[in-house]
Order: sequence, then C-alpha cells, then structure tokens
Amino acid sequence: MDARTFSQFREFIYQKSGISLRAGKESLVSARMAKRMRALNIDTYKEYLNYVRADATGEELVQMIDAISTNVTSFYRESQHFEVLGSLLSKWYDGGQRRFRIWCAAASSGEEPYTLAITVREALAAGDVNARILATDISTRVLKKCLVGVYDDEKVAPVAPSLRDRYFTMKCEEGRRLCEVKPTLRQLLLFRRLNLSETPFPMKGPLDVIFCRNVMIYFDKVVRARLLAEFRRLLKPGGYLMVGHAESLTGMMSTFQSVQASVYVNVGHRKRHRALNGECER
Ligand SMILES: C[S@@+](CC[C@H](N)C(=O)[O-])C[C@H]1O[C@@H](n2cnc3c(N)ncnc32)[C@H](O)[C@@H]1O
Repeated sequence: MDARTFSQFREFIYQKSGISLRAGKESLVSARMAKRMRALNIDTYKEYLNYVRADATGEELVQMIDAISTNVTSFYRESQHFEVLGSLLSKWYDGGQRRFRIWCAAASSGEEPYTLAITVREALAAGDVNARILATDISTRVLKKCLVGVYDDEKVAPVAPSLRDRYFTMKCEEGRRLCEVKPTLRQLLLFRRLNLSETPFPMKGPLDVIFCRNVMIYFDKVVRARLLAEFRRLLKPGGYLMVGHAESLTGMMSTFQSVQASVYVNVGHRKRHRALNGECER
C-alpha cells in the first residue's frame, strides 16, 4: 500500500471509528485489508476503500473496523474489576440503593457483559432491585454474538463450576459442547450499537459504573478526552470507571481519581464543591 492510499485509509477509519492508526502500520493495514479484498474479489486497495465508502448498509465498514481492531475478550478478563464491582454493589445495596445502572462500553462478543450480569446477580441476590446493564459496541457482528449468548464450553472455563451450573444451560450441537446463558442473565442486559467516537451519546445518567476496557488504546488523546468528558457527564458522583490494565488516565482528567490500578472514581462534583467553598483543588 502506498503512502497516499494508507493515509486515505487512516483518515477514513479515524473519521468513522476514532481508531487512530499511527504511521508505520502500513503493513498491518495492507494485510488485514487484503483479506477482506480476497473475500470480496476486489483487486486494489483504492477500489476496496471506494467499496466501503459506497456501502450504504454499513456492513463492510463493520468488517473493516473488525479487521483493524481486535475483538479479543473473555469471561472474567482482568477479574479484579468484577471483585471491585461486587463489593461496590453490596455496599450500595446495604446503604439502601435499589436502582443500579451499569454500562459496558465495548462489549465485544458478550463475555464481559455476561460476566457483569453474573456479578450483579451474585451481589444483589435479594430480588427487590431494579438493575440494568447496557452493553454496546461499534461492531454489529459481535453484537449478534452477544444476542445469541451461546459459547463453546472452553470459553466458559473461567466461570466457576457452581456459577456455570446456575447461569448456563449445557447443550451439545454437532459434537460441540456449548453453554447457553440463562434468561436470568439476559433479562439484565440491553445490547445496542454505539460508536464511542461519536459524542455526545444518546443516553442520560446517572450511571453507577462504566466498564470501558481495552478499547481506549485505539484512540488518540482527542477522542479519549471527549470520551472521558461523556463518562463524567453520565456517571453519578462517586460512580466508578474501570479501564483496561494497559490503559491509564494519568494526566487525562482530574475529575477521575485513581482508586487502584485501572479503577477510577468520579469525584468531579466533590472537587467542584470544595472549590466553591474556597478550598484548594488538588
Ligand atoms: C479488544 S475488544 C475489548 C472487549 C472487552 N471490553 C474486554 O476488555 O474484554 C475491543 C472492542 O472495542 C470495539 N470498538 C472498537 N472501536 C470502537 C468504537 N469506536 N466504538 C465502540 N466500540 C469500539 C471493538 O469492536 C471490540 O469489540
């Protein structure tokens, strides 16, 4: 791929998804696009780019973004976050809270939002709660997998056997051992397509917790800053933001205070309040 074509791809992908491809990624982009071109019987990169631009269904755009970013995920990935979430939910419940709103902002094929749902069910077993998890992703392809909610047996291995029995139905299809999520988890979830680079989001807060893990690595500072401003708008004061372990908000936004590695609390309002009272902002 020549430099000019690469920069056209880069510009297009950034515009459509916020994904920032640094210079030097030419060979990665060429290889990934070549795979799609073979599937579509297209000979040149330029032709492929025109094809994606002209595709009113948006389906090829999804394929293109999927080819550039990864959908890698797993049940209980970076599992400390789910422990933190479980403790928070129990604490808030004990404090009298009964309405809980969680957003999983890059849900991929569903392992993360379903792990969130298990955590909610386990922490809030009392039954008198109004809990919802919004799970979004830019890729309609992975969102379809979320909706199906059926996983190969080995994908569900990180789920403890007792939880597997409680929340999955085992079945066998064409010699494959599969686990299907039970309605008790599905009932908590709402799946929607949402592009994290298109702010403001069509949602109102307040949310208790946002999981936005392993997607900000693809964004540049501008897109990240817009995203964090939206998270701040949507999170309740004292609400939590979990990011991937390889991601850090250091130097990004003072309204999020680090609680532990990759866990942040929204202290924006408290800080403003302190400032209004004439106290020093840290
Ligand atoms: C590596 S996966 C992370 C999945 C999960 N959060 C985890 O940590 O296991 C990244 C996901 O981000 C999604 N993604 C990439 N760009 C996006 C965007 N602009 N808006 C929303 N989702 C996006 C991809 O489709 C992919 O499913």
